[in-house]
Parts: sequence; structure tokens; C-alpha cells
Amino acid sequence: MRRKHLVGVVVVIFLTWNVLMYYMLVSRNPGKVGAVSVQDQLRNLQGDIQRQLSHNSDLLQQLRKFREQKQSEKLDKEIRRTPHPIDTNSVVLPILLIACDRTTVSRSLDLLLKYNPNKKRFPIIVSQDCGHKPTADVIQRYVSEHGIQHIKHPNTTDIKLPWPQRKFQGYYKLSRHYKWALNQVFHTFNYSAVIIVEDDLDVSPDFYEYFSATFPVLHQDPSLWCVSAWNDNGKVGMVSDEADLLYRTDFFPGLGWMLEKSTWLEIGPKWPDAFWDDWMRHPDQRKGRACIRPEICRTSTFGKKGVSKGLFFEKHLKFIKLNDKFVPFTKKDLTYLQKDKYEQYFMKLVKDTPEVTVSEAMSGHKSNMKALKIIYSTKDEFKSTAKKLGIMDDFKAGVPRVAYNGVVSFMYRGQRIYLAPPSNWKGYDPKWS
Ligand SMILES: *[C@@H]1O[C@H](CO)[C@@H](O)[C@H](O)[C@H]1NC(C)=O
Ligand SMILES: *[C@@H]1O[C@H](CO)[C@@H](O)[C@H](O)[C@H]1NC(C)=O
Repeated sequence: MRRKHLVGVVVVIFLTWNVLMYYMLVSRNPGKVGAVSVQDQLRNLQGDIQRQLSHNSDLLQQLRKFREQKQSEKLDKEIRRTPHPIDTNSVVLPILLIACDRTTVSRSLDLLLKYNPNKKRFPIIVSQDCGHKPTADVIQRYVSEHGIQHIKHPNTTDIKLPWPQRKFQGYYKLSRHYKWALNQVFHTFNYSAVIIVEDDLDVSPDFYEYFSATFPVLHQDPSLWCVSAWNDNGKVGMVSDEADLLYRTDFFPGLGWMLEKSTWLEIGPKWPDAFWDDWMRHPDQRKGRACIRPEICRTSTFGKKGVSKGLFFEKHLKFIKLNDKFVPFTKKDLTYLQKDKYEQYFMKLVKDTPEVTVSEAMSGHKSNMKALKIIYSTKDEFKSTAKKLGIMDDFKAGVPRVAYNGVVSFMYRGQRIYLAPPSNWKGYDPKWS
């Protein structure tokens, strides 16, 4: 109540002030025609009003920000007040498969069903947008034969966009669909977590094992906000054969990822109209949190057709190595992924690795060493080194793909390389892009 009061008072003061300003502007030059032309006066008045308007909109924005902040504080409190005691070893982890108009969704479903160890613990929900009948028919077959669930996004209307954005219609629809589908999972079905995949993904034999073993780590560590099946540098020849090796990363990888309800309660209400993955990578959403990711991908994409993946597929995605060994993750100790332990273990590993230049690393003269470290201090240094060694060279919100504390780990001609910032690193610079 007090908060509403406060907002009310601010609004009243703000409106009164506007009215006063308006009268002052009008009465300042009452009919001083003669020396100054009416035209000039009008022009001045227009300028004044425009300045006033922009000032007002700034104020309004501040007010809005204030309100949002209050709301999110309230939300935080609610989440803390109602802790759901979850048995992290048996919690139901539904698979949400986002589909649209590709009948090849059957390929994804076949593998998801083939490796599914327990359909009660890992129920499969296909959420379909686009109302594409042939795809709907394919999904329906799996409903009757395998007991999966098929839900349909009710809103398939076109989204009205001004012309520069019109070509991004697909991204807007995808974002709208994600929001609806995730609300279904968390609010209609009331699940505590979800594993999200799309209709062009193959999964590895230990896909379920991976997510079920990492769920307790995710749940207990507030500095984590997702587990992803994806390594952005996971191409054949750029990963080791240590299939059980996992990492923390500051970069949100997506492409087969697990999300908890508590995180959805936080980000769902402000979910963006488009480009949701880059939005998640923004500091306002990520808030310094990390994801768990594997050395070897647990998903790979087979589809060329899609809103974003067309050209990227031919150049990059089709070379991704999909893990083919079953790693019994649930029988392993994964506590090393907790923030404090991981920071000690991983940063020490990097610190103790001998430093070389790019050309030394490429020359093979140090190929007897287990691992090498290359330091980058500027954006351009990172990019040129990345290009030479064949890893992804882009940044999102200043974070290189795969990076943890600025360190990118990958294999180069059978040797582990850490592309790392200097030891006095101050954090990511969002201006690096
Ligand atoms: C469908 O989506 C559009 C654009 O996102 C929105 O304006 C409209 O209100 C939605 N319609 C329904 C019935 O939810
Ligand atoms: C949703 O699940 C939580 C536990 O995860 C439970 O406490 C709550 O009562 C459930 N709500 C509904 C509406 O079923």
C-alpha cells in the first residue's frame, strides 16, 4: 500500500509540475509580436515543448524502472519465502520440444524416445507453433504410439512490425512461442524444471543422464542458472575424448538446456519480443550467473532450415561432434562444479599452465606439453588468435563463447589450449563485440 502511495504522490507532483511549466512557457512571451516574428516564437515554443517532452519521457522511464525494481524485489522475497523442498535426485524433468513446421521433428523425437530411461521422470512435451498440419500429424502419431504430449500455441497470428524489423518476424514468433510454452510448463503443468530442445536436434545416449546428474548442482548453486548440452567450440578435432569433462561458462549456450522454475519466475515476466537468447546473455538478465556445459556436445543440429541456422549450419554446426559414449554422470562426484571449488580448481589449472605465443602454439614445438596458455589483452588480440586457431571469435555482451572468467578452453592439434586474459583481468567489457 505504501509503495502505491509513494508512486501516486510522485505522479501528482510530476503532473502539477508539468502544468506549471506549461503556463510559464505560455505566459513568458504573451503577445510580444513586433521585434520577433510569430514564426520564430512558434519555433521557440516548439523547441521548448520538445525539450519538455523528452525530459518527461526520461522521468517516466525512471519511474518505470523504479516500479520494476520494486516488483523484482517483491518477487525475490516471494521466491525466498516459499522454498520448495525438492528431491533433486527424483524431480521430474520434462523435455520441452519446440516445434513449428518441420516434419523432421520425428528424427528428434525418435532419439529422445530411444534414450529415455523413464518416461515418468522425463515426460516429453512437444509444443507446436505455426499450425502446420503435416507436422501436427507427425506429432500426433507419437502421442498415440508413445504417450508424449502435444500442446499447440494458440496464437499463430502475424506480429505487426514496422518494415525494418519485418524480416525478423520468425524471431518474434519464436520468442512469443517460447514464452507461452514455458508458461505452460511452469504454470499450467507446475513442473519445477524443464529441459528445452528444438525440432532439429539429435541427442546423445547420455543426454538424460547428464541433465539428471547436473540438476542437483544447478539447484543448489545460485550462481548457476542453466545447464546446457552445448559446447560452442565442440567441433570434431577441437574437443578432447574426455567425455566426462564438464565446465562452467559465463556464456549462455542454449541448444538443449535446463532451466529451473525459480529462474523462469524471474525472467518470464520480462521475456523479450524477439532474440531471446541474446537477451538472456545481457548482464541485466544474466546477473553474473554461469551455466554448466560439457566438453563434448550432448546435442547436435541436423536442420538447415530455421530462423537463424541456415548459413551457420554449413560453416560451423555440421562439424559439431555429438558424444556417442554413455557417461554414468549420476555415479560421479560433480561437486567440483560448485562455484568456490571450481574457481580454485580451474583458475589454478590455468595459472599453472605455461604461457606461449600463438605462433609458438601453432609451431608444434611445445607439443610435448599437456596444455598451453595464450594471453589476450584486447578484443582484437582475442579475435585474431581465435581466427588463427579456428575457434569462435564473437562476443555477446562482451563474453566470448565458452568463456569462464574470460578463459576459453579448447583443443588444438591434440593439445589443450587456454586462451586467457592477463592475471589482472577486471571482468568482461560489454563494449567488446
Ligand atoms: C497474439 O500475439 C499478438 C502479438 O504478439 C498479440 O498482440 C495478441 O494480443 C495475441 N493474441 C492473443 C489472443 O493472445
Ligand atoms: C506446484 O508445485 C509445488 C511444488 O513444486 C507445490 O508446492 C504447489 O502446491 C503446486 N501448485 C499447484 C497449483 O499444483
